[in-house]
Amino acid sequence: MQTKVVKIDAEQIDTDKMEDAARIIADGGLVAFPTETVYGLGADALHSEASKKIYAAKGRPSDNPLIVHISKFEDLESIAKEVPEQARKLSDAFWPGPLTMIVWKNEKVPYETTGGMDTVAIRMPNHPIALRLIEQSGCLIAAPSANTSGKPSPTEAQHVKGDLDGKIPMILDGGPVGIGIESTIIDLTEDTPMILRPGYITKEMLEEVLGEEVKVDPGIIASDSLKKPKAPGMKYKHYAPKADLVLVDGASEAVTAKINELVKEKQSQGLKVGVIATDETKASYEADVVFSIGARADEDAIAKHLYKILREFDDSGVDAIYSESFATPRIGQAIMNRLLKAAGHQVLTV
Ligand code: TXA
Ligand code: MG
Repeated sequence: MQTKVVKIDAEQIDTDKMEDAARIIADGGLVAFPTETVYGLGADALHSEASKKIYAAKGRPSDNPLIVHISKFEDLESIAKEVPEQARKLSDAFWPGPLTMIVWKNEKVPYETTGGMDTVAIRMPNHPIALRLIEQSGCLIAAPSANTSGKPSPTEAQHVKGDLDGKIPMILDGGPVGIGIESTIIDLTEDTPMILRPGYITKEMLEEVLGEEVKVDPGIIASDSLKKPKAPGMKYKHYAPKADLVLVDGASEAVTAKINELVKEKQSQGLKVGVIATDETKASYEADVVFSIGARADEDAIAKHLYKILREFDDSGVDAIYSESFATPRIGQAIMNRLLKAAGHQVLTV
């Protein structure tokens, strides 16, 4: 299969160009498209045969459910068994946006889309191309991140092509995404709402809107937790770069000194070493490859560049990577959740 990459200007969407993509979705095929978080791999969410194609293209385990992307609140009402009051409040505050809600599903949603679960994950993305694709196809669109299973989520159309070229008919290229890490997932099917995956929308933001406590799934916090995460996707061995990645945490100068010491040690063994630095520290490192993730105070930039940098390291042929730690105030939890997984929880504190 040849994969067509179609550039779309998000500011001025060409309806004719979108028509092919909309038709592919309506006919049960796959189209990768940009959202504000990461690129998604879309198919008609309410047709089991269409959903199945997503699992095949990604090499995704069939028990890992998909997120259904919608363009208006009534779409949620049409596939939920019941609509919790919390869903209305959260939708008013955060949709369209990087928040996925889990509710009980009705019979319209096939088990192929929900990985056999009786609940369904729903999100209204804040991206004009994504919203247009949903509307123009007349479908609700099931879409996981558009990477091969086990790779970092794609933040550019090029990443999607690298993973799925020849496996899907079309990629809509809307340029690099705005946020760069996947949506926050909140489960609304139990008494207390619970975060199953941290993201750009934080616990504090959710609690403020809901006026009640929000829990965080204990299964996603501890590295060696015996608890199973409730979101099936959080339990799979996550992306790890080809090179061994270790995080170094502590005061800035101590971190730089420690990383330089470790770099020297590895280099003396004949190894090629990479460092994930910030704009402020980039010049202080003497490694083979040094990438800056952004300014330390700019959390949005750090989230946005993380996956791209991890992909670039895989292409650069380094044997070991050392990274500074980014437990920043707002979305630091979401960033560190991804980075710690990539590092297999190897952290050195100095
Ligand atoms: O930002 C995002 O959410 C991106 C863009 C494309 O929208 N999508 C995304 O999808 O990250 P994916 O499939 O890579 O991650 C979905 C996560 C998985 O961990 C999955 O197990 C979980 O959501 N999930 C989906 N439905 C669920 C359900 N009914 N109950 C619990 N977890 C669910
Ligand atoms: Mg994913």
